[in-house]
Amino acid sequence: MEDKLKQLEQDFQAALKGINTPEALKELENEYLGKKGKLKAILWGIKDLSIEEKKTIGVAANELRDSFTSALAGAEADIESAYYKEIEAGQAIDVTIGYPSKNRGHKHPLSHTTELLEDIFISLGFKVEDGPQIEDEEHNFDKLNIPHNHPARDVWDTFWISDDINKDKSIGERLLLRTHTSPVQIRTMMSQELPIKIIVPGRVYRYEQEDARHTCNFYQLEGLVVGEGVTFGDLKWTLDTVMKDLLGEKTEVRFRPSIFPFTEPSAEVDVSCQICSGSGEKNKKRCSMCSGTGWVELLGSGMVHPKVLEYCGIDSTKYSGFAFGMGIDRIAAQRFGVSSSRMFYQNKLKLNEQF
Ligand code: DAH
Repeated sequence: MEDKLKQLEQDFQAALKGINTPEALKELENEYLGKKGKLKAILWGIKDLSIEEKKTIGVAANELRDSFTSALAGAEADIESAYYKEIEAGQAIDVTIGYPSKNRGHKHPLSHTTELLEDIFISLGFKVEDGPQIEDEEHNFDKLNIPHNHPARDVWDTFWISDDINKDKSIGERLLLRTHTSPVQIRTMMSQELPIKIIVPGRVYRYEQEDARHTCNFYQLEGLVVGEGVTFGDLKWTLDTVMKDLLGEKTEVRFRPSIFPFTEPSAEVDVSCQICSGSGEKNKKRCSMCSGTGWVELLGSGMVHPKVLEYCGIDSTKYSGFAFGMGIDRIAAQRFGVSSSRMFYQNKLKLNEQF
C-alpha cells in the first residue's frame, strides 16, 4: 500500500511539471483528488487493511492529499503570474526609443499661434475656458445685447442648424453654429464667481463668401475681465503688453473708436504692420498686407456693456469689465508673414512646412 502511495506521488509530481494552463491543472486535480480520483481509489482499499496499517496508511494518505492540494495551489499561482507577465511583456512601451529624426512634422501655424497666445495670457493670470460650437441664439446674440431683429445681427452671417431641429424651438432657443467666441463670456459670467479673468480660444463659423481674408470657419480668441474697478486703462495695458510680447517690442498698438452691441465704449485695435514695419511700403511697393496703411486690424474690444452684466445677474453699479475678441488667423498671418489667411485651411504642405 505504501508503495502505491509513493508511486502515486511520483506520478502526480511528474504530471504537474508539464502543466501550464488552468484547464489542464483542473483536470489533474480531478484525476487525483476528484470523487473518482486515484487517491480516492486507494482510500477505498484501506477498509481491507489491518487496524495498524489502517492508521499509518490513513495518515499517509491524508498527508498526501494535503501535499497535492498545496502543490496544485502553488502551480495555479505560478500559471497566473506567468499569464500576467506575458501580457505585460506584450504591452510594454520602450520609453527609451528615439523619435525618427527626420520629417517629424510640426504644429500647424494656427495651433502654434493659439498656444503662444495662451502662454502669454496665462502668464498674466488668465484662465483658459471653452464653450460649445453649436450654440443657442440667446447666448450667441440676445444676452450679448443683440436682440432678435436688431440690425447688428446682419454683421454675423449665421449658419443655422437645420429647420427640422429648430422648427419647434422658440426664438432664443434656436440652435446655430456660433458666430463668435463671445457667448462663452455669457456662459462664464452666469456660472462663475467674480472676479473673472478668462480667455476663450476656439473655432467660429460665418456664412461667408470666401476670399483672401474671409473663410466660413476661422479661429477667435475671446478675453473677459470682470471685477470691481476694472477700467479701459486695464484693457489698453493688457492688449499693448500682449501684442508686444507676441509680435516684438517695437510693435505699435492703436485704438480706434468703434461700435459693438456688447461693449460701451468700444474700440478696434490695430497693430503696426509686421511685413513693412508700419511704413506701408515693401521693396519700394505698396505693402499688400496692410494695403499701404502701415496698420493691420487685429481685434475688437471695449468695456462690457452694463446691460450684458445685468443680463448675467451682475450688479453693473458695483462691477465693471473689459472684453476683447481677436482673430487668431489674422494674428498668425501677421506673425508668419502670410498674405492670405485662407491658405491656413488649404492643407498645402508647401505652406505649412515653411514655419
Ligand atoms: N465678437 C466680435 C466679433 O466676432 C469680436 C469682439 C469685439 C469681441 C469686441 C469682444 C469685444 O469681446 O469686446 O466680431
